[in-house]
Amino acid sequence: MSVGYTWVQWSPHKRVYDAVMAAGAVAYIAAFVGVGKVIWTGAHSISDEVLVMRALGSCGFGLLTLILCIGPLARLHRRFLPVLYNRRHLGVMTFLISLVHGVVAIGYYHGFGVLNPLVSLLSINTGFGSLRTFPYQTLGLAALTIMFLLAATSHDFWLKSLSASAWKRLHMLVYGAYALLVGHVALGALQADRGWGATAVVLAGVGLVTGLHLAAGRREVSHDSANAPSAEDGWIDAGPASTIPEGRARTVCAAGGERIAVFRHAGGVSAVTNLCAHQGGPLGEGKVIDGCITCPWHGWQYRPQDGCAPPPFVEKVATYQVRIVRDRVLVNPKANAPGTPVEPARVNDVERSGRASSGGASDGARASDGAQASGAGGEHA
Ligand code: HEM
Ligand code: FES
Repeated sequence: MSVGYTWVQWSPHKRVYDAVMAAGAVAYIAAFVGVGKVIWTGAHSISDEVLVMRALGSCGFGLLTLILCIGPLARLHRRFLPVLYNRRHLGVMTFLISLVHGVVAIGYYHGFGVLNPLVSLLSINTGFGSLRTFPYQTLGLAALTIMFLLAATSHDFWLKSLSASAWKRLHMLVYGAYALLVGHVALGALQADRGWGATAVVLAGVGLVTGLHLAAGRREVSHDSANAPSAEDGWIDAGPASTIPEGRARTVCAAGGERIAVFRHAGGVSAVTNLCAHQGGPLGEGKVIDGCITCPWHGWQYRPQDGCAPPPFVEKVATYQVRIVRDRVLVNPKANAPGTPVEPARVNDVERSGRASSGGASDGARASDGAQASGAGGEHA
């Protein structure tokens, strides 16, 4: 959600985060080289170039594993949400470290012949028929190419140009890159008869990523069935209004799988899609700040009563009609077009009079919450 173009979307928080991660990567590479010089001696001694290559490659692989763990960790526990803020910068850093690894490898093994090093890498070894001879470097090159594509399109400019869903589909390729790298490292270790050390570490990473994704998926499925609508005339029962904390949401799931975030705010209940227009972040896990639903991932904001971002931003999310019957919040599962104003169902009226209150599409947004002139808790970048 930006009004001007900036090459790197830094905030003071992100600068500190990036500096810490970069310092961590440098420390890891230095430690790897230092320990490697002590371990790989005598019959096992390796050149400095190969040592640096291994340090950079394992650093890149470790960072990619970390990146793939951040999503499910944040879904399992809110404590990890702040780590999500910097995931794209971490991805670009991972690509740069992996790029140096690839360049050193190509230069060292293919840079001294008459052929162009890339042509040499792709043409010299054609032993695709056996694991013992398979040119595992090509797997690394394919993974690096995907990582380049992802790093190059990581800017919000591409997110907007490609649309959030196409961008997200493109960035799912990271799992393909990860699978290629598992093959790259495992085959490299197998062919060099270097024992099972590197392969075991890689498999542990794969186990961690898979386990976390399964745990997060299982939690979401059980959460959805706990919220299963006992739909009366097709509307979803989102439970008692009084049990939704002020400024927070309860997320319910419509029959088609669409998640809806039902927010309680300033005596009213409003519903919007759970999918943030930025990168599909879970709006229902956010809170209302300065009258606006604030996405927990990067802080984009939307007004509860019409799903519109506060000026000068222009993003919109779908809204849903809501009514309250005997303190139970009912949500119409049919999404309104993004930005459609819906009068919030009033909790206070129901609590005062014990009568049912209902809300429908209205001509304008309530003025009392007021549009925010700038993002409150987030970065809008
Ligand atoms: C052009 C692309 C690439 C080439 C040509 C390449 C080449 C190589 C080579 C030759 C080795 C064996 C080094 C040795 O002798 O021990 C290796 C190992 C490795 N590579 Fe790559 N690689 C590429 C891309 C990548 C990428 C993108 C990653 C990860 C993000 C990666 C991660 C690793 C790892 C983890 C190892 C094993 C290090 C170890 O055994 O400690 N590689 N690569
Ligand atoms: S996903 Fe980025 S702000 Fe919501």
